[in-house]
Amino acid sequence: MYRTHNCGELRIADVNKEVTLAGWVQRVRNLGGMTFVDLRDRYGITQLVFNMETNSDLCESARKLGREFVVQAIGIVTERSSKNKDLSTGDIEITVNKFNILNKSEVPPFTIEDKTDGGEDLLMKYRYLDIRRKPIINGLLLRHKMALEVRKYLDNQGFMEVETPILINSSPEGARDYVVPSRLHHGEFFALPQSPQQYKQLLMVAGVDKYYQIAKCFRDEDLRADRQPEFTQIDCEMSFVEQEDILVLFEGLAKHLFKSVKGIDMNYQFPRMIWKDAMEQYGSDKPDIRFGMKIHNLTDIVKGHDFKVFDDAEYICSIAVEGCANYTRKQTDELTDFVKRPQVGAKGLVYIKCNEDGSFKSSVDKFYTPEALKAIAEKAEAKPGDLILILCGKKLPILNAMGTLRIEMGNRLNLRDKNTFAPLWVIDFPLFEWDDETQRFYAMHHPFTSPKKEDLEILDSNPGEARANAYDLVINGTEVGGGSIRIHDSQLQVKMFNLLGFTKERAESNFGCLINAFKYGAPPHGGLAFGLDRWVSIMYGCDSIKDVIAFPKNNAARDVMMGAPSLIAPEQLEELSLEITPNKE
Ligand code: AMO
Repeated sequence: MYRTHNCGELRIADVNKEVTLAGWVQRVRNLGGMTFVDLRDRYGITQLVFNMETNSDLCESARKLGREFVVQAIGIVTERSSKNKDLSTGDIEITVNKFNILNKSEVPPFTIEDKTDGGEDLLMKYRYLDIRRKPIINGLLLRHKMALEVRKYLDNQGFMEVETPILINSSPEGARDYVVPSRLHHGEFFALPQSPQQYKQLLMVAGVDKYYQIAKCFRDEDLRADRQPEFTQIDCEMSFVEQEDILVLFEGLAKHLFKSVKGIDMNYQFPRMIWKDAMEQYGSDKPDIRFGMKIHNLTDIVKGHDFKVFDDAEYICSIAVEGCANYTRKQTDELTDFVKRPQVGAKGLVYIKCNEDGSFKSSVDKFYTPEALKAIAEKAEAKPGDLILILCGKKLPILNAMGTLRIEMGNRLNLRDKNTFAPLWVIDFPLFEWDDETQRFYAMHHPFTSPKKEDLEILDSNPGEARANAYDLVINGTEVGGGSIRIHDSQLQVKMFNLLGFTKERAESNFGCLINAFKYGAPPHGGLAFGLDRWVSIMYGCDSIKDVIAFPKNNAARDVMMGAPSLIAPEQLEELSLEITPNKE
């Protein structure tokens, strides 16, 4: 038997037992005549002790143990004289009688401790060593627990898990596809699924009724902290449901997860916000409602004061930042630089300091009297001591910029506590979004999303105003999941493709199967998908989803550990009838 207990298990009640442990050497410390070895495994750390006086040979050998050696130790559980309150096994240690080196280790490239000295690239390259560290393994354990609880909850609700294919056909909407060449079919390609969307709808036509899948999805898009090229969805679909049925059932799933995984009771109805309010009040379709600092529309009140920048602007809006009227010139300049960054996209920043004595100091004093500034402060809902920040530009882009500034101020003022969880449903999304570059409408969610019944009649005349039966679950400013009630009528689906600028032939070639299936009695249906990686990372309180993925890609979408992507052999290329042209750069 390699071990009788694991390294996180022994307590004071086990004193005097003879035990055998196996694990990795985290650290060796020599103190006078004693040698201490921290032995680690997935479950914890147990201290081994060797005494030079009582067993010098054994102690000498222990002193030669290197970091990450794999060791089996046999000894007696002993009460420690100086206890370690930070360790679950900190009341005891093992007085070792005998040990075996099961395997040696080279010196690891970084320290395998909670706080490591390794940089990101090194940690990624040696991810299998990184996973030995508690912050990483605990993230993976939380992920496992969440997936288990998802399965329990959905199984209880009558859902069945169905696997759908990974090699599918390419579809033009959404992000870029990852594609796989076919050897058997010259010049043809599979795509990897961006989500199992069409399959789950086909499963509804097939009468599966309640489907879910913890599904791998692949998207070739620009990476961010909450985006990976390869990620996991909790993908769900149900028949004979309306939006309300879905919101209630999946709010139940969220509550079950918070309770079972975090011990948090959320015995209240999650707030709901329509998309238009989210944009106008928070400058985002995923508002972080852990803090206020709502956006106000100042367009009417600030115009007509000969300040050309505002007079010429389509939309002018503000936030009031509590207690920051004492910001220095350097600080306001810093904020101006922040909003001018291309990712934020504003041209400049106007501020008004609402002094404690009721007076005002602003960057536009030349144009506004104290009375005018007072009226603006009222509209901006600012109190004495607050700093009002104002941006202007085109409506949606400037609201987005203000939303980004609001989050920045929330971070600066520590208003975004990782241990507070603020879920929110955002509903009534627009059906389409207009793209200036290509001069056409795109489906805001996806082309299978149904319009609201009451907006059907404006689909032709004013498609930009039509709303969708679509919803997102947002937690702490992150979109954790989203879905919609689907179109189940083949005529309406064809019309949607028309509005999205698909020719009949293209719609047929990309979505022919679904359009055809809808002719055979498609039930009303709808669903949603949660991003498992995002949800785990919020529960875990980490900044990037990479921390809760066992083997993530780096920021350049590479697996630096395995060396993927990589070149393939000329024979493989030939077999696939592929030729690589020289890199133009
Ligand atoms: P959507 O595209 O909104 O919807 O994706 C659902 C959820 O998946 C997560 N997500 C991601 N997580 C990590 N990395 C990524 N690159 C990434 N992209 C998306 C987000 C998001 O909310 N088929 C529809 C769902 C439906 O209508 O039922 C879909 O895929 O948390």
